[in-house]
Amino acid sequence: MNVEAPPQSGQTISATDADRPAIAAEKLSKTYRTGFWLDRVVTPLKDCSVVVPAGETFGLLGPNGAGKTTLLKLLLGIVQPTAGSGKLLGREIGDRATKHKIGYLPENAYFYDYLTGWEYLDFIGKLFGIDSATRIQRMAELLDLVGLPQSAARRKQVKQYSKGMMQRLGMAQALMNDPELVFLDEPMSGLDPLGRYQIREIILMLKQQGKTVFFNSHVLADVEIICDRIGILNKGELICSGTLDDLLGEATYFQVRGQGGTPEELEHWLDNLEFQGNSWHGQLNQRSLAAQAGLGESGESEESEISPDQIGTISNNPDRFITALTKMDAKVIDLHLARQSLEEFFIGQIRQQHLNNSNGSDDGRLQDNDENPGKGQNVAPVN
Ligand SMILES: Nc1ncnc2c1ncn2[C@@H]1O[C@H](COP(=O)(O)OP(=O)(O)OP(=O)(O)O)[C@@H](O)[C@H]1O
Ligand SMILES: [Mg+2]
Repeated sequence: MNVEAPPQSGQTISATDADRPAIAAEKLSKTYRTGFWLDRVVTPLKDCSVVVPAGETFGLLGPNGAGKTTLLKLLLGIVQPTAGSGKLLGREIGDRATKHKIGYLPENAYFYDYLTGWEYLDFIGKLFGIDSATRIQRMAELLDLVGLPQSAARRKQVKQYSKGMMQRLGMAQALMNDPELVFLDEPMSGLDPLGRYQIREIILMLKQQGKTVFFNSHVLADVEIICDRIGILNKGELICSGTLDDLLGEATYFQVRGQGGTPEELEHWLDNLEFQGNSWHGQLNQRSLAAQAGLGESGESEESEISPDQIGTISNNPDRFITALTKMDAKVIDLHLARQSLEEFFIGQIRQQHLNNSNGSDDGRLQDNDENPGKGQNVAPVN
């Protein structure tokens, strides 16, 4: 893609200030009055502070109704905060000159039905003041990039587009001004597996070009591949944020797949043991491994006498397990060090907040934020 600086209005903004975060929001909150008498209050976002260093890809996760789109709209200056402040590319939210450096794919993008995709992109290019030759070149490049055939884009009116085509067009318009900072509200939504893959590749390409990407998504597998940093939002609160390594920790246990043996013997060694066809898989139980090691050295089998440090050291070596497998006439197909998945972490965080909010008085079952609108929200009138 042609990386040409878009035209500026107003002051010039330095694009390469390494110390300056691309996004810095401090205690952003949003409250809406609702109901016929405007006497109910909903608070989709409470005291949300988030920092995204320039050049990083940030994934915002959260259940339906958690406040993800609200945060994104506040950052973009589309919605005014009730409290708090923020900066994009070093300037206050809403700064006009900064908007030239921002791309945005809305959650429910609205297009002019009677324009073709080509005409729509041309219109967006004109809004940014891009000259005709550059516009034509960029439109062709972007359509190729998002996988929308140029012939269809030139011929078909937007009202004839499928959901996937609209999403692709939305992605193309978000990149029309070759932005430095890109906001994408559920970019994978409505796309087939190929489309999802293409969007993933585009986000990785933007990252390679040094751009900052902030996106909302429910597709945790994609987020895990793409993001440097994530945040989890639930009931309007950012319950955690950090790099994937910070949040998921290091690989600390062995994930094993194998064949043979008996369930009774395998259960002694493996947690979460599951059988599939003629193979099984599970997580190597560190205490069993350590207990076996303790038995060998001191003649005692008391697991409680083995310290956590010892467990860490011993469980780095699965030799005893492999020896035991040979004795039970089983074999390993795959054995690798693993850490919890983003999905496990996500579910754990949401469940924990749910339990905290209900003081442990319920069973910790998860609900969409939208299914439980009053809970955890201020319903008193605002004076
Ligand atoms: N203009 C508004 N007036 C009143 N309530 C609103 C308004 N906009 C959003 N909300 C409420 O704020 C909450 C958060 O909405 P938001 O769209 O930010 O959630 P989300 O995390 O993006 O959800 P989803 O994953 O479904 O897109 C919801 O309960 C929603 O009903
Ligand atoms: Mg949303």
